[in-house]
Amino acid sequence: MTATPPDKHDAPTVHDATWAVHGGNGGDHEAGAIRTPLVMANSYRLPEDPASLDWSATDRLIYTRNGAVNQTGLEVKLAAMDRGEAAVVFATGVAALHGVFFTLLRSGDHVVVSDVTYEAVWRLFAELLPERYGIEATFVDASDLAAVEAAIRPTTRLVHVETIANPTTRVADIAGLAELAHRHDALLTVDATFTPPPLFRPLEHGADLVIHSLTKYINGHGDAMGGVVIGDAAPVQRIRGDALVDVGGAISPFNAWLIQRGSVTLPLRLRQHLASAARIAEHLAADPRIAFVAYPGLASHPQHELARRQFGERGFGAMIAFALDGGPDVQNTFVSHLRVVTSAVSLGHDESLIVHVGPAGRGGAEHYPEEFRTYGHLRFSAGLEDVEDLLADLDQALDRALPRRG
Ligand SMILES: Cc1ncc(COP(=O)(O)O)c(C=O)c1O
Repeated sequence: MTATPPDKHDAPTVHDATWAVHGGNGGDHEAGAIRTPLVMANSYRLPEDPASLDWSATDRLIYTRNGAVNQTGLEVKLAAMDRGEAAVVFATGVAALHGVFFTLLRSGDHVVVSDVTYEAVWRLFAELLPERYGIEATFVDASDLAAVEAAIRPTTRLVHVETIANPTTRVADIAGLAELAHRHDALLTVDATFTPPPLFRPLEHGADLVIHSLTKYINGHGDAMGGVVIGDAAPVQRIRGDALVDVGGAISPFNAWLIQRGSVTLPLRLRQHLASAARIAEHLAADPRIAFVAYPGLASHPQHELARRQFGERGFGAMIAFALDGGPDVQNTFVSHLRVVTSAVSLGHDESLIVHVGPAGRGGAEHYPEEFRTYGHLRFSAGLEDVEDLLADLDQALDRALPRRG
C-alpha cells in the first residue's frame, strides 16, 4: 500500500509546520496571486434573485459579519491546527469566550469555573452573567478533580478552565476534567491561549470546545486582536449563528489577514518561546534574590508531573510568574531598569513583556498561592529576542533593584 502523498492543502497529510504555512491560503485565482489577498469589503454581490435569501446565512458570502474571505481562510487553518471540525473567529479572545458562554448557557444553568482565570472571565462569572442573566457559577481549584466533582450540580452545563492558568501557571488536567464533566452531562470548555498548537490540543484530550485569544501567540506580532472557538461543526455553527451573526463581535478582514500571516510561523516561533522560557525560569530560580518562580517546567511546580504527562517533551508554555524578594517598590525598580524586556500587558508577542501586579492582584486573587499574595507577581512572557540578551537584561535590572551583598 502506498502512503498518502503530502498535499499542502490537506491538513491530515502534512506536518504542523507545513499546514501553518499553507492552511487556509486559497490564493487569488483571478489575478494568479499565490496568497489570499486582503478583501476589505463588508458586503458581497447578491444573487440575481435575492428574494429567498436568508440574510443570516453563513454558508455563502453575503455580509462580513456572517463570514468573509479572510475570516474563512483563518478558520480553515485554525480548525485543523487544533484537530477540530470547525472554527469561528471573533474580534477578540474575550468576544470568543463570551460567544461560547452566551450560546451554551441559559438562565438557571450552573457553571464550574477555575478559581484562577483571566480577569474578564472572572468578572463575567462573578458578576455579569449571574446578575444579568441568572447564570450561577462556582469557582474551584481546577487542579483538584475531587473539588471540581464536588462543585457539580444537576444544573451544571459547563466546566471552564485554562490549560495553564493566567497568571499563576496552575496546570489543569484536561483528560481528567473531560471525563468528569462528561460523566455529569456537562461540557468542558478550555481556554488554551497559553498553550497554542502544536504544543497542546485540548480536543484530543476530550475537551468539547477550545478557545484561544489570537491576540497572543497565534498572531504573535503584537499588532492585531482576535479570538477563536474550535470544536465539532454543530456547536461551532450554533456559536457562529447566535454570538457572531446576532451579537456581532466580528473581526475585521485586516486583522484576520494579519493573524493568518502571523500564524504562518507559529510552530517555529513556539519552539523558541518554549526554549527561552525554560532557560529563563531555571536562571531565575537559581538566584537567591528571587522569592519565587512559578513555571510548570520546574520540578518545584505543584503540577510539574501532570505538565510532563500532558505536554510531553514539547515544553511547558512560555509564561513565567515570579517576584523579587522585596515589596512593590523593589518589583517596580526592577521593571523600570529593564532595557530589552518591555513593561506592557498582553503576552505571546515577538517581544518579551512583563507586567507587575501587586499583592492585591486582580479578580479572584484571594485564590492565588500565598507567595503571590505576599510579594505580588511579575508576569513574564518570554519573547523571541536572543535568550542571552534577555538573561543579561534580567540580571542587570536585578542588580539595580537588589544589589548583591559583599
Ligand atoms: C488566557 C487568556 N484568555 C483570554 C484573553 C483575552 O483575549 P483578548 O485580549 O484577545 O480579548 C487573555 C488576554 O490576556 C488571556 O490571557
